[in-house]
Amino acid sequence: MNSDRRWLIRGGEVLDAGGRRRADVAIEDGRITHVAPSIEPGDAAVLDAGGALVTPGLVDLHTHLRQPGKEEAETIESGGRAAALGGYTAVLAMPNTTPPIDTAAVVREVLELGRAAPCDVHTTAAITVGRRGEQLAPMAEMADLGVRIFTDDGTGVQDDRLMRRALEYAAGLGATLAQHCEVTSLSEGTCMHEGEWSSRLGLQGQPSEAEELMVMRDIALARMTGAKVHFQHMSTAGSVAMIAAAKAAGLFVTAEAAPHHFTLTDACCAGYDATFKVHPPLRTADDVDAIARGIADGTLDAIATDHAPHPPEEKERPFDHAPPGMLGLEYALALALTELVDERELMSEDEVLARLSWQPAAIAGLEHHGGPVVAGSAANLCVIDPTERWTIDGSGGASLSRNVPYVGRTVRGRVRHTICFGEPVVTDGKAMR
Ligand code: DOR
Repeated sequence: MNSDRRWLIRGGEVLDAGGRRRADVAIEDGRITHVAPSIEPGDAAVLDAGGALVTPGLVDLHTHLRQPGKEEAETIESGGRAAALGGYTAVLAMPNTTPPIDTAAVVREVLELGRAAPCDVHTTAAITVGRRGEQLAPMAEMADLGVRIFTDDGTGVQDDRLMRRALEYAAGLGATLAQHCEVTSLSEGTCMHEGEWSSRLGLQGQPSEAEELMVMRDIALARMTGAKVHFQHMSTAGSVAMIAAAKAAGLFVTAEAAPHHFTLTDACCAGYDATFKVHPPLRTADDVDAIARGIADGTLDAIATDHAPHPPEEKERPFDHAPPGMLGLEYALALALTELVDERELMSEDEVLARLSWQPAAIAGLEHHGGPVVAGSAANLCVIDPTERWTIDGSGGASLSRNVPYVGRTVRGRVRHTICFGEPVVTDGKAMR
């Protein structure tokens, strides 16, 4: 994806893990060549960053790209375009495709298809064969192709002994196991959070404990094995408390939360609209508050989208029969700035960028993403207009699906340009390919 063109990002404020400074950023041949208060463009093409923040590109640890197997919902290319429009320069694909990403051959196919996408596509791979939770997948072969995170996402590894073995094996490979925490004996047949709203609506509810029991077990296994565990899409106050305690005890655990879990509650399911159906389910206002606070205080290291496209005809089924999941790539940044910085006043813009860019880049071990914005670094950058307010309509996005639960919300912060390995893949809010 390297570009031999020269670009100058001019007039912006650079924001990375080192803080903020007024600076222009010169790019050549895919790399940042110069960062200084004022740089003359010479023959470089200028990308206007006046009034904008110039940050390392965002990194999504949790993207369902649906390819291979469900190309009517999303392709690696369309999902990659949605990511670029959302400011992402790197995404990690989830393995619950058809066939699942559980062999070196499928890993190769996804990485190959990813080369045509307008962002850097990496992939996770399954912990177990077929994501069935019965025997370990060939993790070493897949690690040889660059896979650093293994997960059975869409389901959790139920068997304690198998999870222990997987952690021991992954530690030897220098890999991280990411867990979708859901005990199926408590969640089977459920379609929303178990509580007041599930009773009122007559829908089968999933208790918070379905998530929390697996968080508790995996913290115990992380302690036992010394391996790294990453907790995916945390949704309950109890999970946040347990992760905080595990970190305080010095265990190698990290965690993410999705935008819908800090913006929406189970009350959104009141109209039986399956746009609001997701796993883990939308929880109570107290849980939403705990997730937001967990992100702000760093217990939750990353905001990850869990971008989960589903075609309209599937989301239009009755609530209990529709597939779970909602889109996120094009909305995560603005939702975080609006909800966590402006409305709840829990954290700064800089801290939001940490959770969206350099912290997930570190968890995934992506050395070319997440900054810093200095000469010599790969030019993976995002230019954000932090003042622009816009209303989400959900119909104009790049995703092939339309399951957006935020329609009608007015948010702050919009991506102006995204630069991936020196190539402007989004300019003035428009995808270039
Ligand atoms: O809501 C969800 N949708 N949660 C998951 O874990 C899987 C995902 C999907 O693949 O649609």
